[in-house]
Amino acid sequence: MTVAVVATIEDVRRDVARARQAGLIIGLVPTMGALHEGHTSLIRAARTETEFVVVSIFVNPAQFGPQEDFSRYPRDLEQDLAICSEAGVNLVFCPETAVIYPPGFRTYVEVHEFQDTLEGASRPGHFRGVATVVLKLFHIVGPDIAYFGQKDAQQARIIQQMIRDLDLAVHLRICPIVREADGLAWSSRNRYLDPVRRRHATALFRALQEVRELFEAGERDAERLRHAMVAKIETTPGAVLDYAVIVDADTLQPVSRIEREVLAALAVRFGATRLIDNLKLSAR
Ligand code: PAJ
Repeated sequence: MTVAVVATIEDVRRDVARARQAGLIIGLVPTMGALHEGHTSLIRAARTETEFVVVSIFVNPAQFGPQEDFSRYPRDLEQDLAICSEAGVNLVFCPETAVIYPPGFRTYVEVHEFQDTLEGASRPGHFRGVATVVLKLFHIVGPDIAYFGQKDAQQARIIQQMIRDLDLAVHLRICPIVREADGLAWSSRNRYLDPVRRRHATALFRALQEVRELFEAGERDAERLRHAMVAKIETTPGAVLDYAVIVDADTLQPVSRIEREVLAALAVRFGATRLIDNLKLSAR
């Protein structure tokens, strides 16, 4: 069976209202398309917990900087719809840009401080674009539960904060990072990598593995753990480190010792392709 596809706000609202009238629990999986196994893991989680699964596919211009890859971001709607059909999605919402940002649009959401560190420091304005589009999607679809990936840990933390601060009536589920066989986290951007860079891209995972091993051996000094990540990236051909940090998982602020739950997170460039990955470590 092919999945139902809608492109207007009226159509989504009508279909979701119908599902809700039938007593179904609504799940939403927001995506930018170029779907891969990371996305399908979110869809699977939504299928097990909710009864009407909506996937949005929208490459959101507001979250890309002027020098970023918005225009060349991979788009393959036909393939995405096949994946959604196969995965048992009930409705796909794929609006045109002007549906989400009509002429004269001027209201944005900002989650202060969290939006300025890590990814936000390297990508000014990125999280303002993310928070704005996600809030709009929540209002358009009205899900009971929304699904996000731990792959974008800072994004998940920001959405959690927005839900809390704006009293949104949506539950957040954060699903584990899904990796390719060699450890590289699935990402729509992996398809930019040529075979040599693709091989070297496993350095992010290997750097995090090393952090995990040191941590499990008892290392609690954040700077030493951070150095292990940096060294792994610096010895990888073609890899340019953007950042490697150990931050508190709740505040996203750097820590010196690991005493609570922390996030080891890094961003690395391979040519024009920027990859991110992270690992949660719990001191308890
Ligand atoms: P996108 O990069 O398409 O990712 C959509 C969702 O899939 C995000 O919640 C992301 O964390 C999750 N995801 C991506 N790769 C994953 C992996 N390897 N394992 C687990 N989950 C993974 O993130 C966005 O789109 C956008 O910012 C969006 C939230 C849709 C707003 O525009």
